[in-house]
Amino acid sequence: MPERIPVQLSGRSYEIILGRHLDRELLSCIETIKPHGVLLVSDQNVFARHGARYEALLAGAGAIRRLIVPPGESSKSLMQLATIYDAALAPPALERSSLVVALGGGMVGDLAGFAAATLLRGLPLLHIPTSLLAMVDSSIGGKTAINHPAGKNLIGSFWQPQAVLCDLTLLDTLPAREFNSALAEIVKYAVIGQEPALEDFEAHKERIKARTAGRLDEIVAACIRHKARVVAEDEREQTGRRVLLNFGHTLAHVIETRCPGRFLHGEAVAIGMVAACRVSRRFAGLDAQSPARLAKLLASCSLPVKVPAELTRQELLAGLGGDKKREAGRIQFVVTPRFGRAEVASLALDDALLDCLLEQP
Ligand code: GLY
Repeated sequence: MPERIPVQLSGRSYEIILGRHLDRELLSCIETIKPHGVLLVSDQNVFARHGARYEALLAGAGAIRRLIVPPGESSKSLMQLATIYDAALAPPALERSSLVVALGGGMVGDLAGFAAATLLRGLPLLHIPTSLLAMVDSSIGGKTAINHPAGKNLIGSFWQPQAVLCDLTLLDTLPAREFNSALAEIVKYAVIGQEPALEDFEAHKERIKARTAGRLDEIVAACIRHKARVVAEDEREQTGRRVLLNFGHTLAHVIETRCPGRFLHGEAVAIGMVAACRVSRRFAGLDAQSPARLAKLLASCSLPVKVPAELTRQELLAGLGGDKKREAGRIQFVVTPRFGRAEVASLALDDALLDCLLEQP
């Protein structure tokens, strides 16, 4: 039986449906939403693998128009957003009751989500995440965005979906690099607290990496429950609860912006988390062994942990200066005083912080 995890929001709650072979659940979502037409957004790789099956399943939702973008983070752009608007508004234009379906990984979800948020002042949205990273993180909680040369996710909005359908069978064909990249986000939940526990991940790492049914389902469910709770408590990142999910992301976003195309998001987050542990050791009392423990765990998941050598001090400073969470020469940085706990520290954007971030593990 699929697990249904609610995201309880004051305005409107929705469910994340997690399981295997969720065709019946998709049909029942369509039955509930009753859309007049569908705009299916996907990328070329995902559409080649799963497009025909999903178009057949969506047939009862009215006319389907599709917009397939090139794979990769570079599609989270104004240009690709414009192609979605053009497809949506070409006669006969979509209506307020038309449904945007995001079939893909994090890039597709963010891009299609932002298009849904802005088209006709907001269209209903259904996420069908096809990557592990999108299942455990980006499809949950309504963050949508495109990138700008000044930084990642700088243009966006909160736009909650009607539902999220996480069909774990879609992960069977996910390339290894993409799968491993998401393990960084799973480890992140374990480091910042609640579930899954870090010891649990360490103990079952091999079976998770082997995508063993049952074990994988459990860890994905634990991450989704964690995120759903956080989003319910702090939907718009205002109370300090949701911002903790950005552990490792401050440096990761700089790396992704300054080294475009070189790292997948989770890979940059792995580097960023190890750096955040060094910062936590220096400024928040984390014990001496923990940064190396995390680096070893992430490396054993085939994830990079070293800051790329070409990232200069000036670029790092410029990148951090463009962070959404900076204020008057200081930066709000998520630290962990001990694994299982996270908090926000206000740190001066000075040489001590830059040295610490750039230090190699
Ligand atoms: N990925 C962090 C968040 O959704 O808040």
